Formats: sequence, C-alpha cells, structure tokens
Amino acid sequence: MSEDSLVPSPEETILEVDGVEKHFGGITALDGVNLSVGPGITGLIGPNGAGKTTFFNCLTGFYTPEVGSIRFEGTDITGARPPAVAQQGMVRTFQIPRELSEMTVLENLLLAPPDQTGERLSGAWVRGDQFVEDELDVRERALEMADFFELDHLLDEPAGNLSGGQRKLLELARALLTDPEMVLLDEPLAGVNPTLEEKILERIHELEEQGYTFLFVEHDIDVIMEHCERVVVLHRGEVLTSGTPEEVQSDERVIEAYLGEVDV
Ligand SMILES: Nc1ncnc2c1ncn2[C@@H]1O[C@H](COP(=O)(O)OP(=O)(O)OP(=O)(O)O)[C@@H](O)[C@H]1O
Ligand SMILES: [Mg+2]
Repeated sequence: MSEDSLVPSPEETILEVDGVEKHFGGITALDGVNLSVGPGITGLIGPNGAGKTTFFNCLTGFYTPEVGSIRFEGTDITGARPPAVAQQGMVRTFQIPRELSEMTVLENLLLAPPDQTGERLSGAWVRGDQFVEDELDVRERALEMADFFELDHLLDEPAGNLSGGQRKLLELARALLTDPEMVLLDEPLAGVNPTLEEKILERIHELEEQGYTFLFVEHDIDVIMEHCERVVVLHRGEVLTSGTPEEVQSDERVIEAYLGEVDV
C-alpha cells in the first residue's frame, strides 16, 4: 500500500472509520473499511458496486454496519439513527423524493430533509415564546440559502420542474439547512449540465473555505483530480489505497481495479 502522507493527524481527524462491514444476505458490500478523514474535500472513488453508497448509508445511520465502528468528532456514532447523526453534524445529500417534487423550491427549503432534522433546528420550535421569531429565522435562512445557490428566481416553482442541476443545488441547500459540519456528496454532478456543474463545484469550494468538510463521490476522475486534496479508493468493499490525486491516478492497482470492472 502506498504511503498516504495526507492521513490527518489525530487532532485533525473529523471522521474515523474502523473495520466497518456491511452484508446484504450473501453479498459483502463493505468488507472492513478503515479510513480517517480530515478537513477539506476528500474524494471517494471506486468502480460501480465498490460500496460507496453503502458506505455513505452506514456513516449517516441509514444502514447499521454489522461490524466496526464510526467516530465523528470524537463521538462514537456507530448504529446511531439518521436524526442523531445529523444532530452530531454529518448529513448526506438526497434526491428530492416525488412528494417534495410537487412542493415549491421555497417549501422544500423550509422543510429540513426527512429524518435529518437535528436538535439545532427542531429545538427552536419548542421554545414557545420564540416560535414566531424562530419561524422568521428559518425563513430567512432558507432565503439566504436560495440566494447562495442562485435558486432565488425559482422560489415559487415546483421542485419537479427544475433541471437536473438545479435539483442538485436544491438538495445541497436542503442538506446545509440542517447546519452540518460534514456533508457527504454522492455523485452531486450526475446529470448536471457543464454550466451548473461549475456552479456546484464553486459553491462546494466556497463552503470548504467557510470550514465545511466534504466527502465527495464522483466518477469523473478529472473532477476529482482538480477539486480534491486527497482521494480514497474503495474496491470490493475495502480501501484499496489513498493519497493525492496524482498518486492514486498512477497507482497500478487502481488502474487494474477500474479496468477489471468498468466498461471502457
Ligand atoms: N439494499 C441492498 N440490498 C442488497 N444489495 C445491496 C444493497 N445496497 C447495495 N447492495 C450491493 O452492495 C454492493 C455495493 O453497492 P453500492 O451501491 O454501495 O456501490 P457503489 O460503489 O455506490 O456503486 P455505484 O458507483 O454504481 O453507485 C453491490 O454489490 C450492490 O449490489
Ligand atoms: Mg453509488
């Protein structure tokens, strides 16, 4: 295994994954994933079926790993449900489900993503006197977010009418409204036109500069090379290697893993 000089020091580690396994019947989707993630944008790549989405689901509590542990900001969150994980500060983006497609962009932004409402948001509602003030606050944040993602001219548009790229922006905006520290992006550029792709990547960098941490699954290796400081390669449910984009791209085992499993 190549030396990964970018492994975060214990003080810098935000997410620490140790020996995580996930099985579906006879299928081993994750076969002992070990990984430390520090600040910035970390790319997670691997051939189709490598286990990337399953890994995200284990991290955010949508699946429970049978073996292994997950620590986020020093707290053991293994087996925690999605709202508890979101409350700790880690969320993943979600495709906008059908029922939300009929709601407007503003309505989508006023609702936290399902199952991800952390105490940081929902706690506001139980302080009776503050109800109206907090409601205004939620609305103000939603409008700010719409502005940031340039969705402000679409506030009254049903989400279902948005283009693929605009929906991705809305997904990201909804995830950020839960007030996370770390956001897991599962192919945020899939089906997005080049102009919006640039916009999404710009926004991710701006958010990184504000202190957000990203784990970024993307199949386009050029995007990973340009936008990630560190890349982790998942292969058959295990971390094959990690390092700078250059190191990973020239690693024979990575090339073999892709050639062996992807139509090229
Ligand atoms: N809910 C499930 N039930 C059964 N098998 C599953 C389930 N989810 C994932 N798998 C299997 O686990 C393995 C890993 O799948 P996963 O979707 O995590 O891969 P991936 O790396 O995200 O792939 P892609 O790049 O195509 O999105 C695959 O063999 C897949 O068929
Ligand atoms: Mg996937």
